[in-house]
Amino acid sequence: MEFTGKWIKSPQDHGHAALEFQREWKTKKKILHASLVITALGVYEASINGKRIGDYVLAPGWTAYEKRLQYQQYDITPWISAENQLSVTVGKGWFSSRMPGFMDLPDKKERMGRPNGILAEIALEYEDGSKEKIATDESWLCRESAIRWNDLYDGETYDATYEPEEWQNARAFSWPKDILIPQEGEEIREKERIAVQEVLHTPAGETVLDFGQEVTGYVEFTVDACKGDRIRLLHGEVLDQEGNFYNANYRSAKSEINYICKAGLQTWHPVVTFYGFRYIKLEEFPEEVRADRFSAIAVYSDIRQTGYLSSSCQKLNQLFSNVFWGQKGNFLDVPTDCPQRDERLGWTGDAQVFVKTASYNYDVERFFRKWLHDMAADQQENGAIGMVIPDYLRGAVPSAAWGDAVTICPWQIYETYGNREVLQEQFPSMKKWVDYITDTTTRPGCWCGGEHFGDWLGLDAPQGSYKGSSREELIATAFYAYSASLVVKAGEVLGEDVDEYRMLHKQIVKAFREMYPQYHTQTEYAVAIQFELAEDPQKAADELAELVKKDGLQLRTGFVGTPYILHSLSRYGHTELAYSLLLREEYPSWLYPVSKGATTIWEHWDGIMENGEFWSEDMNSFNHYSYGAVLDWVYEEAAGIRPAQPGFTKARIAPKPDQRLDWLEGSLDTRNGRISSRWIHTGNRIRYEIETEVPATVVIDGKEKEVDPGRYTFWSSVTETSGLRFLEVQDEKEEDKYETV
Ligand code: BGC
Repeated sequence: MEFTGKWIKSPQDHGHAALEFQREWKTKKKILHASLVITALGVYEASINGKRIGDYVLAPGWTAYEKRLQYQQYDITPWISAENQLSVTVGKGWFSSRMPGFMDLPDKKERMGRPNGILAEIALEYEDGSKEKIATDESWLCRESAIRWNDLYDGETYDATYEPEEWQNARAFSWPKDILIPQEGEEIREKERIAVQEVLHTPAGETVLDFGQEVTGYVEFTVDACKGDRIRLLHGEVLDQEGNFYNANYRSAKSEINYICKAGLQTWHPVVTFYGFRYIKLEEFPEEVRADRFSAIAVYSDIRQTGYLSSSCQKLNQLFSNVFWGQKGNFLDVPTDCPQRDERLGWTGDAQVFVKTASYNYDVERFFRKWLHDMAADQQENGAIGMVIPDYLRGAVPSAAWGDAVTICPWQIYETYGNREVLQEQFPSMKKWVDYITDTTTRPGCWCGGEHFGDWLGLDAPQGSYKGSSREELIATAFYAYSASLVVKAGEVLGEDVDEYRMLHKQIVKAFREMYPQYHTQTEYAVAIQFELAEDPQKAADELAELVKKDGLQLRTGFVGTPYILHSLSRYGHTELAYSLLLREEYPSWLYPVSKGATTIWEHWDGIMENGEFWSEDMNSFNHYSYGAVLDWVYEEAAGIRPAQPGFTKARIAPKPDQRLDWLEGSLDTRNGRISSRWIHTGNRIRYEIETEVPATVVIDGKEKEVDPGRYTFWSSVTETSGLRFLEVQDEKEEDKYETV
């Protein structure tokens, strides 16, 4: 749309205070329809005649602001009266907070100096057919708000006693308008409210609220206070070994709430920032703490849950829950590494690792497409993809498995939802990325040179390093091959000529095989098998299985290997071993954090070590979704549901039970219908209950059967000698209800 208004800001610098803009007008005629179109440099909340407009939190969201800025349109007809007042509060948000907090880069300084402003247009349509527009200009007013201080990492200070200064006329300023785009992503909303589970009095004498669940969002409180009473709240994810409040792992992010009370009963929550927390420390609070006067509000993108998993194992169910919460806590407009410390950035590697699980758990097509548009917008001239998108670490050298998010994410979104538009939109940037590697490698056919994160946080990292011991160039070359193969696949879907990339892919596979005839680590095996680079994948998988056993039946993988290891084992007959890794409870394992009380996924396998100590505070997030990628194995292998065709127009349902679980169930609400798969051990038989709204190939014990949409029960027997070998498969189409066990 064409904006007729001007960008407006305050005529003065207000330091860290949030701003308030206002426009009053009288409506003399009867209104038929009224709308507001608005965006901000910063984050805004708008209200009309005292009523909040819309449910969007932290609007207009986070995009590559220099190139793309979303605007929102709201219907405000119901609130229009004879005398109207529109007010808009604007905080720094992602636009001008001190991001990233752990590095001072020249463009960070530049970002922090950017003005917070708005651009808006009120369109009025009267019953007599006439129209009127009230657009932002110098007649709009501006002043400092009662939010006296704000920063995305550090929190908010609100003074309910604040006596505002006189209004001033806003100042028009020039800022591009050709960057404006309509809302593309999902709106960010207040999605869930969580009550205090316990009020703790810690050994150090602190009063701490425990919400029992780590969430991203903010706390809302109600207090009966005297004017000038102070409230000071700190946020934390875990308690320390002694049971005291702890948040040293937030690094420089202060994550505070400071609130100065007015007299009487009042309810408040932050408006222009968010926090990642489970615990709230009441540093200052004027009255006796009442648990019912606090709630944690989980704020995330308005994504719809589509995946469901449950099993007979409580710890496994807690792991499922932790992955879902990890996603909710980090899908706040941009897929972020973590929601608490001074990062909260759109790390490409993390998103790539998790995208498949994410796309099964929730419908994230819109969410990812918007972010991928930003990725394409922020792609460098030479095709390089930044480590984070929006690219707040500009100029950094791209890393394998991080930059490859540019091919992996669109392809996965296509696979899960079947809409080729995402490929159409991203195809040029996918190609450019592969070309970038071709242009910069020091050895054709491989990705040699450059700087990489390797198998980030691999358990086989040498002392003092964050990088696992898998060879960096092996990983880089493997991802180069994989990205080239995805360009080919995407091109085939789109009917593009991709011969050049087909040849390139062949060349990389050949070079990979020559350079890496042997693999040394679990991650090296996993990528060689998963990306179909191993010449004899069965042999490689058998060796990987041996290696896992030799390693003590435990994982040694980091960000790169973890999402693939179970797949590469079960794809070649080592499902029982894959289950052993999934169900392992001792460190290192997925269930170890569960035993330690985790409610989200940890960045480190041992964020809290066995002796109760923390991993060093310089990098120890307790809400980092990456390792939650294991759920795509649970959907695809344990429950056995995967797309046979993109978007699940047809499914392949091949459940793989394990004796250590009595039952397991998975369902997906796909774009083409719901698919559920459940298996239950009953004595020495296993019953499979499959319900599918799409045609499917059902595979049980290697026996395939084509089925139409419907409900089916299959049975198989377990042999006494070898545990999980099915002797017979019976099937029957069932119309009546399943019997319950
Ligand atoms: C982030 C990660 C990210 C990594 C890259 C960390 O600080 O939190 O999740 O992928 O850096 O090395």
